[in-house]
This record gives sequence, C-alpha cells and structure tokens, in this order.
Amino acid sequence: MPTKVNIVILAAGKGTRMQSLTPKVLHCLAGKPLLQHVIEAAKALSPSKMIVIYGYGGDAVPNAFTQEDIIWVEQKEQLGTGHAVLQASPKLDDDGTTLILLGDVPLLNASSCLALLNKTKSIGLLTVNKENPTGYGRVIRDAQGHIVSIVEHKDATEAQKKVTEVNTGIIAVNNGKLKKWLSQLSNDNAQGEYYLTDIIAMAVNEGLSVEAEVTHDESSVAGVNSKADLAGLERVYQLAYATKLMEAGATIADPFRIDVRGELAIGKDVEIDVGCVFEGHVILADQVKIGPYCVIKDSVIGRATTVAAFTHIDQAKVAADCKLGPYARLRPGAELADSAHVGNFVEIKNSQIGVNSKVNHLSYVGDATIGQNVNIGAGTITCNYDGVNKYRTVIEDNVFIGSDTQLVAPVVIGEGATIAAGSTITKNAPAGQLTFCRAKDQKSIPNWKRPVKK
Ligand code: UD1
Ligand code: CA
Repeated sequence: MPTKVNIVILAAGKGTRMQSLTPKVLHCLAGKPLLQHVIEAAKALSPSKMIVIYGYGGDAVPNAFTQEDIIWVEQKEQLGTGHAVLQASPKLDDDGTTLILLGDVPLLNASSCLALLNKTKSIGLLTVNKENPTGYGRVIRDAQGHIVSIVEHKDATEAQKKVTEVNTGIIAVNNGKLKKWLSQLSNDNAQGEYYLTDIIAMAVNEGLSVEAEVTHDESSVAGVNSKADLAGLERVYQLAYATKLMEAGATIADPFRIDVRGELAIGKDVEIDVGCVFEGHVILADQVKIGPYCVIKDSVIGRATTVAAFTHIDQAKVAADCKLGPYARLRPGAELADSAHVGNFVEIKNSQIGVNSKVNHLSYVGDATIGQNVNIGAGTITCNYDGVNKYRTVIEDNVFIGSDTQLVAPVVIGEGATIAAGSTITKNAPAGQLTFCRAKDQKSIPNWKRPVKK
C-alpha cells in the first residue's frame, strides 16, 4: 500500500432521480446519511487526508457532519466527475496517491479498496461485471486484456455497450499524474461534462499500464441513484446485519424483517420477533426476548427480561427479569430495577421503578421515584406539571396505590401506605395508613330513565 493516501469523495451531485429536495448523499441508509457510510469506510484506510467535494445543497452537506478531519471543498457548478476532482487538486499531496470514492456508494468495502491501492502503480480501477451494465462506464480492454479506456454509456458504440465489465467509479491514481491529467480534460462528449474516466486513456497514451481490481460483491460498489436503489441496498445491509446477529447466537424470527439503525449488542440466547426496529446503541443481555413490532432506541435491557409486542423504549435502562408491554412506552430516563413490570398503555418518563414493583395498566408515571414491591393500580397518573414547572412524586416501598388515582406532585407517599381508588392526592400520605380523598356524596336516583332519541 502506498505510504501517503489521500481520499477524495465526490458528493456534489444533486441526485436528480431521487426526486427530492435533499441532496442525495444526505439520504439515510440504516439511519445514517449515505455519505457517512462512505466516510467511515474511508477512515478504515487511515488516509493522510480526506477531502469531500460538495456542491448541490450548499452548506447543508458539510453542516450534516461534525468530523473535524474532513477537508470540505466546494464545486460550485457540477460540470462532471473530472471537474469535481479538479477542485481538490491543489490540496493533494504531490508525493501521495489519491483514492477517489463516490458519496453515493454506501456499502463500500474497505478491503477491496485496499487491494486496489496495493496493486496500483500509476493508476488502478475497481471494476465489476454486471449482468445489466446499462448506465455505467464500460471498461474497454485490448486483445491482450489490457485496459485501454473507459467509455461512458452515453458515448458508447453498440459493440462497447455489450461489454459487461464496468467502472465502479473507484479509482486510485498517483497524484503527480492525476494533477497533470485533470488539467488536460475536455468536455467534448455526449454529456458535455469533464469526465474523470478520460484519464484512463491519457495514462495508456503515456505507455502506462492500468491495473484493475475486479470485485464480485456487486452491492459493495452499487450506487444509489433512485429511491428504489436506496430501498434495495437497505435490505442488503439489514440482511447482512441480521446474519451477523444470528452468527452471534440470536434467534431471529425472520431475518428479512428486522432493522438495526445503529448498533445492537446481544448476549446469549436473545430472541427477536418480527418487525422490530433498533436505533442508536442498544444492548440486549442474555435471554432477553423481544416480541413483535417493538422499537428500541439507545437503551439497555437486562438479563431474561421479556418485552411484549408493540413496546416502545427510548433512552431507558431496564434491569433483569422485568416484564414490559404489550404496548408499553418507556421514555428517556426511565429506569426499571429487577423484576419490575410495566404493562399495557403505561408511559414511564424520567422515573425509577424499584425491585418487584408493578405498573400494569393504563398509567402515566413521570418524574417519580418508586420503591420496592409497590403496586400502582390501573389508571394512576402522576400530575408532575403545573403548566410551568415539573415536580417529583416519591412513592416509598410496599405502597399500594388504588386505581384511578391522581398524585399531584410534589408529593410523598410513605412506606407501606395504601391510597384508596379514585383519590386525588395533593398532600403527603403518611406511612402505613389508608389515605383517601374522594367526593363523599354518592347518590342514586330511583326510577331515573335514560334519555331517548327524539
Ligand atoms: C460515474 C462514472 C462511470 C461509473 C459510474 C459508477 C464518470 C464520468 N462516470 O457515472 O464510469 O460507471 O459513476 O457509479 O465518472 N459528482 C460530483 N460533481 C459532478 C458530477 C458528479 O461531485 O460534477 C459526483 C456525484 O455526486 C456522484 C458521483 O460524482 O456521487 C458520480 O456522479 P454520477 O453523475 O452519478 O456519475 P455516473 O453517471 O453514475
Ligand atoms: Ca451514479
């Protein structure tokens, strides 16, 4: 491998066929912009410089990235791939080799780039054979099999169109030569563009040989030009991720129906049913079972916890042996201790639920600290917000809260207290006692008739 590698990523194009207001390279695959995938693959090659050419969409593209080690170079008008690389030319190290990558090829495989760099003397191409090469630049070889040029689809003769070996767009080239050839490009072709690919014929004219690294992994060099391409590569990525999870021991009900948009770390004997989405960083410990159609983001789920269908978990910590859902919602700051239960239509936010405590039905628990062995009855609401400020509710160990209770914070329910159903609690409730606060006047009206429709 050359000692000094510069990487230039072309990302200035609009992506007309995406039919979108967003620049193509900002469309997401597995929750990350296409360009981010390329940048990460590029980083694996430890380049001495990484330059990204941006243009369409203006600052929207550079603003979407925080990496400090990227040199952003604007291509004001998109006059072709050669013109794009020309913008980077002054920044390239004279004694280096440049690897040119495309910002719309997200599943790029660093090892084929490395193989290409290792082969390249003056100039080398990563090529692939495609059953349907339509649209791609064709790799033209002579009778001895030496590469002589790349001809773009729109400029190709009928005979050249039959060639199935195509340019992936990934090119490695000696910087001294690249700078000279770029300055000699013309736009005298079917598209009126400065084609980067014309430098191949220039190299051959100088008697240099053009190396080729042929890859067989088509999706690793597939570009995204349309929404259909994007969806196609998303499935390739997700199936590969599911395969990795299964290799690590996960039981996945259907590897075609799981989406990981980030990183999912798993213990042994994890089971994941269909339709689940994992976002950000998620950890599932040993023996965790995730039911169908759950969405879990930036959370940790402890050993042998069961998450039933349609549960939504965001920035929460769940300990071991808990039972969640179906239809539970844990919001940021929800922390469940061992053996806690959170049932259907229960929302928990910024609250701790102690060991063996249960909130099983139709409740809102926000800004609360709940001790051990607490039972929260159906329809309980912590009224944490007075319209301006938020307050905490503290429920100590062994408390029983009857159904349909409102706990108006700030309020403390003492250890072992019982709150009668239907209470609106506005003052602290003493430990060990029954507290209730309801309308006293229950009445019945004899002979009352329901109204009838007129
Ligand atoms: C290009 C190659 C073709 C190859 C194909 C592989 C050329 C002339 N053609 O064709 O041989 O088979 O990729 O996918 O190089 N871009 C800029 N500025 C520009 C024009 C393009 O930054 O002025 C960027 C685009 O954003 C994109 C990349 O370069 O990321 C490729 O451009 P695109 O127009 O898609 O080239 P293709 O016609 O696909
Ligand atoms: Ca393309």
